Amino acid sequence: MGYNRGAVIKQKREWIVKPKVFVTRVFPDAGLKLVQEACNADIWPDVMPPPYAVLKERSRGVDGLLCMITDRVDAAVMDAAGPQLKVISQMAVGVDNIDLNAARVRGIPVGHTPGVLTEATADLAFALLLAAARRLLEGVEYIRAGRWRTWEPKALLGADLNGATLGIIGLGRIGKAVARRAAGFNLSLLAYNPGLAPEEAAAVNARLVDFDILLRESDFISIHTPLTPQTRGLINSAALAKMKRTAILVNTARGPVVDSRALYDALKNGVIAAAALDVTDPEPLPPDSPLLTLPNLLVVPHIGSASVWTRDQMALMAARNLIAGVRGEPLPHAVPKP
Ligand code: GLV
Repeated sequence: MGYNRGAVIKQKREWIVKPKVFVTRVFPDAGLKLVQEACNADIWPDVMPPPYAVLKERSRGVDGLLCMITDRVDAAVMDAAGPQLKVISQMAVGVDNIDLNAARVRGIPVGHTPGVLTEATADLAFALLLAAARRLLEGVEYIRAGRWRTWEPKALLGADLNGATLGIIGLGRIGKAVARRAAGFNLSLLAYNPGLAPEEAAAVNARLVDFDILLRESDFISIHTPLTPQTRGLINSAALAKMKRTAILVNTARGPVVDSRALYDALKNGVIAAAALDVTDPEPLPPDSPLLTLPNLLVVPHIGSASVWTRDQMALMAARNLIAGVRGEPLPHAVPKP
């Protein structure tokens, strides 16, 4: 192959001129390609996220950071990156891992991926609700343990959705998508969402109620609130004690909204019937977590948005937010400033 001086100079110039970004994980090609075309991208290659110290080190001198929910992006990371940092783009809708105040005072816009994961997450919430109500995990384990000897009139009896009441905590985009699905199952809907207009709830056939009423009257409770200082530990032992003994709790939002220890006690002692979680505290759950010994707890590994289409869309949105940010343009999907 001949030496093409022009091409080498062009490549070098692009390398120099292209904004520098650190991408904390290999993510779907749809977005990764855009980032690689527009930026001089340092892409963390491992399955595991970069350790915090490495995140700080690799962020040094970058114009943009494309991060995941597993990265703690705090003031120290922003300062380690330096004053040229123009954007933090997260490939997720929830941004509780990012210090939004620190970003605001430094004038760094934060991007996220709302909307595109709404339906996939609502699907998973419903999958968990149905699985817990009809005891699918126990059924699978029953067969694997060689206990399926005949059709049994009284084995593995679960809860009916038809005619039951679903309480939705957090009636935002995903909560409303869950409410729409509930109509097909003939569920009555209660919702708890301080500040929401009753008409907005009525539009998805939900009745806004106080937190205690939702806890006491719901057969199923599904959590769809962001993690904030107000929602951390919202489902504690006092809240669990107010639920029906037959209640089933579903969490596809953020693990720390539920107090893990209190949930363990409630499931163990029959305070509520069952729970199904896509998110846990801590996350991941250690393999020796007592929660994993409970037959009435179903856990999946934070896969609410894990469908092919959804992750491609999230990747594209995260890439577009990053690229707009490093160019000094408004982000297509900026997180509102705190
Ligand atoms: C996933 O948990 C997200 O916030 O997108």
